[in-house]
Amino acid sequence: MNFDTIIPRRGTGSIKWDRRPELDPYWVADMDFQSPECVLDAVRERASHGVFGYAQAHESLNDALITYLATRHDTAVKEEEIVHLGGLVVALSLAVRGFVKKGEAIMICSPVYYPFLNVAKDAKADTIDVPHVKVDGKYTFDWEAMEAAVTEKTKLFILCNPQNPLGRNFSQGEIMKVAEFCDRHGLVLVSDEIHCDMVFDEDEQPFYSALKLPDALKQKLIVLQAPSKTYNIAGLGYAFAVIPNDTIRRGFMSDRGCTLPEINCIAFYTAEAAYRHGEPWRQELMSYLKKNRDTFMEFTKSEIPNATTPDIEATYLGWMDCRSMDVSNPASHLENDAGLFVTDGVAFGGPGHIRFNYGCAHSRVLEGLDKIKSSFAKL
Ligand SMILES: Cc1ncc(COP(=O)(O)O)c(C=O)c1O
Repeated sequence: MNFDTIIPRRGTGSIKWDRRPELDPYWVADMDFQSPECVLDAVRERASHGVFGYAQAHESLNDALITYLATRHDTAVKEEEIVHLGGLVVALSLAVRGFVKKGEAIMICSPVYYPFLNVAKDAKADTIDVPHVKVDGKYTFDWEAMEAAVTEKTKLFILCNPQNPLGRNFSQGEIMKVAEFCDRHGLVLVSDEIHCDMVFDEDEQPFYSALKLPDALKQKLIVLQAPSKTYNIAGLGYAFAVIPNDTIRRGFMSDRGCTLPEINCIAFYTAEAAYRHGEPWRQELMSYLKKNRDTFMEFTKSEIPNATTPDIEATYLGWMDCRSMDVSNPASHLENDAGLFVTDGVAFGGPGHIRFNYGCAHSRVLEGLDKIKSSFAKL
């Protein structure tokens, strides 16, 4: 696969490219790359059947998921623990509605993927936000503040690992501590692991899925994963939950009601293809993204005065701290001055920051960063 190839996306009904066609897009989290051939084949094969009625997960999908979870993440999952979903964000809502009542609360740590900040509203519940803190140059959890903030009404914690937008791949120790915190306070732990196959230095620190926690800490656990970020198939709509405990699984499904549509019949097949056959492509992708990641971090450090970025351990999303610059809203400055579309940190609970998506050809990463440099130089 040649990741340098630029595939025009404008006019394809793409949120990223067509929402604000007058701007140069580096915002929403999808990549500009074509999916691997195995995924394209799965689309073609299922499409050529020509009948697209209501679908359910076919048996070999469950087998593919179980094999993938065992081989990539060293976890033993049983078929009955898997819940198929049409996307991951709906699962956040189901979890909150299933376990949190009006007037109760969830806990999150910002800056974080923006639905985390809003999902409690689906249950008319409150959100307790305990922002991440930097310790020795790395963002982590503010353990003391979490203990101080948790109340009897807090029922659920949503973890984002790897973290969007901070790019952290939390260590086993950190995940254990989060799980122990949840256990101590009786919280359901929802672990959003959608970026788990996009960790850069897996040899140094492999991804630690919450599914690897000891059994005692898995009794109130909901793990959410999807092939959508890694294989760039978010538009097909598919994710899955693994919920080891029967009661929690029933509670999760209890508010499903009539709100969820059936799952896309093609997405089931692309998920299977990605997990079964996508690994060689994924490895190529990660080495390409690593070059983009290094460029983003080095360029920010050397070329953009007063901007900083944390070390990015995972994902194709770069978090840039612009608070030392003379600009109140860096994203709108870049939009107005340079015609750039980056994500405003405010959406994640991080004002004064921008999130830059480098999941694109290297030449476009350089182009975008050059525009940021020139535009900030005018401040
Ligand atoms: C942490 C995280 N969770 C969930 C999603 C979206 O998942 P879905 O498109 O399956 O709803 C994203 C997309 O960027 C994300 O970064």
